[in-house]
Amino acid sequence: MSAQRDLLRFITCGSVDDGKSTLIGRLLYECGLIFDDTLAALSRDSRRHGTTGADIDFALLLDGLEAERQQGITIDVAYRYFATSRRSFIVADTPGHEQYTRNMATGASTASLAIILIDASKGLLPQSKRHSLVCSLLGIRQTVLAVNKMDLVAFDADRYAAIVDSYKDFVEKLNFTDITAIPLSARMGDNVTSASGNMPWYPGPSLLQHLEEIDVQSDGTGQPFRFPVQWVNRPDADFRGYAGTVVSGQIKTGQNIRIARSGHNAKVQRIVTADGDLAEANAGQAVTLALDEETDIARGDMLVAPDAPPETADQFAADILWLGADPMLPGRDYLLRIGHDWAQARITSLRHGIDVNTGDHVAARTLQMNDLGLCHLSTLKPIAFDKYSENRATGAFILVERFTHETVAAGMIRHALRRASNIHRADFTIDRTARAERNGQRPLLLWFTGLSGSGKSTIANLVEQALFTAGRHCYSLDGDNLRHGLCQDLGFTAADRVENIRRAGEVAKLMMDAGLIVLASFISPFRADRQMLRELVEAEDFVEVHVDAPIATCMARDPKGLYAKAKAGLIPNFTGLGSPYEPPENPDIHLYTGDSSAETCAAQVLAALRQRGIAC
Ligand code: ADX
Repeated sequence: MSAQRDLLRFITCGSVDDGKSTLIGRLLYECGLIFDDTLAALSRDSRRHGTTGADIDFALLLDGLEAERQQGITIDVAYRYFATSRRSFIVADTPGHEQYTRNMATGASTASLAIILIDASKGLLPQSKRHSLVCSLLGIRQTVLAVNKMDLVAFDADRYAAIVDSYKDFVEKLNFTDITAIPLSARMGDNVTSASGNMPWYPGPSLLQHLEEIDVQSDGTGQPFRFPVQWVNRPDADFRGYAGTVVSGQIKTGQNIRIARSGHNAKVQRIVTADGDLAEANAGQAVTLALDEETDIARGDMLVAPDAPPETADQFAADILWLGADPMLPGRDYLLRIGHDWAQARITSLRHGIDVNTGDHVAARTLQMNDLGLCHLSTLKPIAFDKYSENRATGAFILVERFTHETVAAGMIRHALRRASNIHRADFTIDRTARAERNGQRPLLLWFTGLSGSGKSTIANLVEQALFTAGRHCYSLDGDNLRHGLCQDLGFTAADRVENIRRAGEVAKLMMDAGLIVLASFISPFRADRQMLRELVEAEDFVEVHVDAPIATCMARDPKGLYAKAKAGLIPNFTGLGSPYEPPENPDIHLYTGDSSAETCAAQVLAALRQRGIAC
């Protein structure tokens, strides 16, 4: 019976002391869902840890982690299942602290309704605004404004009305379709499961009554069919099936499907489950689909309704919630996961940040943990997706750091960027090979990295002279020089350094296309960006030269007097002092300029070049 009842997934959000856990604890208690032994333990715990004196502290029921009890705050998402005779519920209880926005986003991503708790004695706080904004961004359209602790304001109707008005003013610009306000006291039980005698002026339903009665908006059943393939099931030569979960819509045997990326169509022959075949499968069901023809389908592909296919693109705009401890850096490569598909991705630009307290657009060059922003992204291969506003299952993605595999962002796709698809590459007859042949050499990128004052430019200069004398065609790209022109607009923040190296790499690549040997001298302090260069210009044409000297040596040399300035606090993010340098783990050439002269080091580079077949 209970499996038949429809399900409402909701999330509770509010500030630390707004009483979320108490509210849910009270709901469970009044629904008769707390066993006697739990209740006994609870009243024991309430005396020890609670904040309610002799009464039961319902918040303790929800605080699963011992650590939370000690600190008195909730630090993770707690999911609770409960049911009444009319409906079943899954509630995500999420933390109220500012730095835990990411936990909140986790809870909100699967919820269809949000309860925004406000402490009547405090009014509308920034956290409630932030939570509403995140809920709206994550596609929640229905909200309950629970004005809690009405007992603390003597159940005052005017106070309640003022809070409701200020909230409605704020959320006007958000995408909520349904906002129901309810005055209550979670601790005392007013308007939680039954009408309160203390607020006769309030004509509406109790919270539970509202949750039982509200029409739950689409959980994916009314939407077009989407089936991200999780794995290809091929137990023997006779059977080939595609396993996964129907994330939206419905599929029946005999229906046509399309493979989103290839555009190829096929017919569903069987819908297989562990309990036998089905005639149809709906959103939320995990099944294996067998098709009528052998087609090329792999994990990560999406099977879709042919008459309502998703978009495919390699450039799109998305709202990004940054989760990583390190800030987001436009220009850097990440891994993007959407459904079961992975693609190498880059945030090509941060259009603007979003002030989480007001919803306003703010100028930003980077996003810190818990920041929100609108970004443009590009992927190395096209991905299939729907707009997040149309389908939360196929419009959401995560970004993963390539080296640590840490999840650094949650993204919600707004729309594809058409611009890119209208730009084609012009093909010229005289290509890189022709130019290289004419020049009688193989183009190469010699990338000198190291601290300021380590000797990069000095050695590059000696190497270039020798190459030039030997008749090679080369060019020196130098950090200091580029910063006078092409990179004039960039400073030395991490984000600007990433962009600096990206531009230098693109210029070097053009020069290599022109047939040149390029000698580039940039501090290029970040490993990820040097890896990006290696991929940009074919690994075998990239020679990473670590110009290595102890920082003490560089400081003693201090050719431009910059270390002295930095030590005096005049250059706060100077590499090696206020800003990190990540040395190469495996450079192609390692020069120790503290021990050897510039001439010796240059000779070492030239020898390595000769080994690579370059006459010099
Ligand atoms: S990078 O980090 O983006 O690769 P780049 O090689 O272009 O740096 O420029 C480094 C040069 O800028 C240094 O040689 C130094 O002369 C100058 N400079 C000025 N401020 C800084 C700073 N904060 N950190 C490092 N170099 C700086």
